[in-house]
Amino acid sequence: MARHSLIRVLTLSLLAVAWLAAAAQSEVPLGRLPDTVRPTGYRLELSVDPAKLEFSGHTEIEAVLAKPARFIFLHGRDLRVSTVQVQAGGSTLAARYTQVDESGVARLDFPQELPAGKVTLSFEYTGGFRTGAEGLFHAKVGGEWYAWTQMEPTDARRVFPGFDEPGFKTPFTVSVTAPASTKVFANAPEVAAATAVGGSVHRFAPTKPLPTYLVAIAVGPFDVLETTVPPNAVREKPLRFRVIATRGQMPRMQLAAAEAPKLLERLEAYFGRPYPFEKLDFAASPLQDGAMENAGLIVFQDALILLDPDARLGQLRSFGDVSAHEMAHQWFGNLVTPAWWTDIWLNESFAEWMGNKVSSQWRPDLDIPAVQLAEAFSAMESDALGHGRPIHQEITDSREIASAFDEITYLKGAQVLSMFESYLGPEKFREGVQLHLARYAYGNATADDFFQSLATSAHDPHLVPAMRTFIDQTGVPVIGVHETPGGLTLTQARYHPLGVSPGAPQTWKIPVCLSRGSNRSCTLLETASASIPPIAGEGPLVPNAGGDGYYRFRLDAASWRQLIAASPKLPTREAMAVGDSIWSDFAAGTGTFNRVVAAARALGEHSHALAATELAQHLEGLARSAFTEDEIAGYHRLMLSIYGPRLAAVGLDLRRGAYAADPAPAQALRQSLVPLVALEGRDPAVRKQLAAAAAASLGGDTRVLDDAFRETALAVAVQDRGVPFIAELKEALVKSSEPLFREDAAAAIGSADTPELASAALKLAFSGDLQSSETLSILEFLGRERGARSTVLAFVDDNFARVLHVVPGFVRPMMVSWLFNGGCSEEDLTKLDTWARSRLKELGGGGLELAKTKERIGVCAALRKAKGTEMAAVLSSPTAASPR
Ligand code: BES
Ligand code: ZN
Repeated sequence: MARHSLIRVLTLSLLAVAWLAAAAQSEVPLGRLPDTVRPTGYRLELSVDPAKLEFSGHTEIEAVLAKPARFIFLHGRDLRVSTVQVQAGGSTLAARYTQVDESGVARLDFPQELPAGKVTLSFEYTGGFRTGAEGLFHAKVGGEWYAWTQMEPTDARRVFPGFDEPGFKTPFTVSVTAPASTKVFANAPEVAAATAVGGSVHRFAPTKPLPTYLVAIAVGPFDVLETTVPPNAVREKPLRFRVIATRGQMPRMQLAAAEAPKLLERLEAYFGRPYPFEKLDFAASPLQDGAMENAGLIVFQDALILLDPDARLGQLRSFGDVSAHEMAHQWFGNLVTPAWWTDIWLNESFAEWMGNKVSSQWRPDLDIPAVQLAEAFSAMESDALGHGRPIHQEITDSREIASAFDEITYLKGAQVLSMFESYLGPEKFREGVQLHLARYAYGNATADDFFQSLATSAHDPHLVPAMRTFIDQTGVPVIGVHETPGGLTLTQARYHPLGVSPGAPQTWKIPVCLSRGSNRSCTLLETASASIPPIAGEGPLVPNAGGDGYYRFRLDAASWRQLIAASPKLPTREAMAVGDSIWSDFAAGTGTFNRVVAAARALGEHSHALAATELAQHLEGLARSAFTEDEIAGYHRLMLSIYGPRLAAVGLDLRRGAYAADPAPAQALRQSLVPLVALEGRDPAVRKQLAAAAAASLGGDTRVLDDAFRETALAVAVQDRGVPFIAELKEALVKSSEPLFREDAAAAIGSADTPELASAALKLAFSGDLQSSETLSILEFLGRERGARSTVLAFVDDNFARVLHVVPGFVRPMMVSWLFNGGCSEEDLTKLDTWARSRLKELGGGGLELAKTKERIGVCAALRKAKGTEMAAVLSSPTAASPR
């Protein structure tokens, strides 16, 4: 007996040594899988009861081995695989499945070498539902359980074993067994349903070729609103379109059902090709963060597509641009898919650009191009730091993929595409897009392939090299404009705020357009400096005509003065560009704080919300970090002196529908002034009015408060009425089935601005009866309040595991910036370093976030050092500032 077992131990350890040796020879692929094997089709059979903690699956994968193999690598994450069989060359063998990396790399060992050629792999397994939007996740809504999926970028491997890379596109044949009381949706239409053990089995048609990241299902007692999108010039057949939401939302499903088809038709017209899949569903989920373009089954955060008939402008805007964005992906991303994650930027930059374009055609009155420009400026803020990433960045490790979904990819990407679209002309640009789709339909392509397509249709050898200067390098160009008697001299350099040290000199090939009155002059600025002929006409020179460029500009004092004086009447995007450049000139140390304030006052007269408030957000940023405690009262007075009179002039009646008949821009202006006056200016009368309306509406009188002012009203009441109101608001949130109310309530609870209120808010946020996404959003909002910050940090530290539970892995690296962005001193830097040292690993990365957050703290400190006295002078006498 003893002898026997010794032999066994010996053989086992010999086997282990052999296995380890083999493993060492074949390093675990954390990036692309080796090209030994290629999948050609999947059959997914899932058993999903959303009320349970686990689901089970049977997955069969048809694949081709390129060469004989003893083992292969594939993906699978936290799956408990009980059986694996492989069919090859007529025989069926058992294989051994081992997850070899926590990111979800697995290894399949065969009992003998398999010959090259076709194989079928079958897996039996179980997995756990997630509680945040990753993999297969579930939530209880209105007392009933639902489940949805979120696979992108690399969470399909949490739902089924497979080859989880965008380059592998195959048909998926899905079937789902679920409780008889539920409905089931997947990418393709359902073809059969039958009663089965444990519920009903729903079979779906094989999909068009898809990558794993676009596979989706939804299970639950949903309400469904079905309609069709009629045929049009590019599509012969009607298209089935459904809106799917948790039970009881029917009244809020009508708007999406009526309006989304209009966006879809515009996309079809632009692409000149019909929608590429058999049906389209929009599914709403309270846990979804944003939206996901799964082929034929787009999942949205519920408030994005569940709108009341009198939905406020902001919600309509988000509905329009996010739906258009996700539908644009159906072509750009789903029909033609990036060959690898390195090119995912093009998917997102393109969809973002296209989403803005199409939604602004749909509702020109919503000022979507202005929103897009404001977003481009926020990308510039990040791009101006020394640490950053270019739009296009090589990805070799799957743990780096998440970093590609940032403001640079989306917001810089969209602005760069639109800058080159205007450079080339929209028609030629569109031809390039159409050519690209035709070349790669239902397949994969790289960004270089896209550039080839554009170059072919453009007949302009300058185009692609110029685009690359923006896509392959970081940084924001700043263009200096000097008027000389003979014309204009333009110079370019990289923009640096104080606190960011200049690196090596950089140049771009920049499509620069300048305007004076109705005259416009465009040039491709390829060198560090160039001269152009004078621009005739009256009035000041606008160095970023139409706000189309991804650059900032710098003028001499006299030209700034002229431009500031003219700014209230400039086109919205040009006025915004003036504001952005004045701010950035100040942040670089060249401009004065007086000029910033003078420009804020002048722009404050503009008729469009985003121009009128362009500089407000920068002042808010200063209040969050750079101003000292003693200066905050002066800040309130300053904001009130700028925006108070404007609100007084347009008037404020909080009652529901009071301004329903006004044009959208007039409504938008008032809506953006209210939070500035109430929260930043702390106007006592307006706050009183808002808090009273908030309390009355919570009490049940919904006529007293229009949704457009609700978030601000609730926030003011949280701050002024304190803990009892926070508790009442949280109760109302939990009871409410109105997604937008829940969102507003969470944001308002997150505006608790003292340690005492913040503690109460955190306690309620983590009481367990909110959706995980709501808890997360309260936490994120609290991080922005200077009076709550240290309380939040202490809470996060004391409850780290509980906090992580509500933050999907994908979002965790961002926590560094939520918690520390307000810092402005050496001491803050040290605190951050200490925190990061112990936490960064658990957050699963965030190195870049950390570097950027530290840099932001340094930028703030440098600005305070250089401009503190100037700022203090203005804040002590807010109405005295004049343009100098
Ligand atoms: N493909 C993304 C969703 C996504 C983002 C998946 C990051 C995985 C990682 C989708 O198309 C998207 O861009 N969604 C945005 C919404 C957007 C249009 C504002 C989002 O979720 O933030
Ligand atoms: Zn997208």
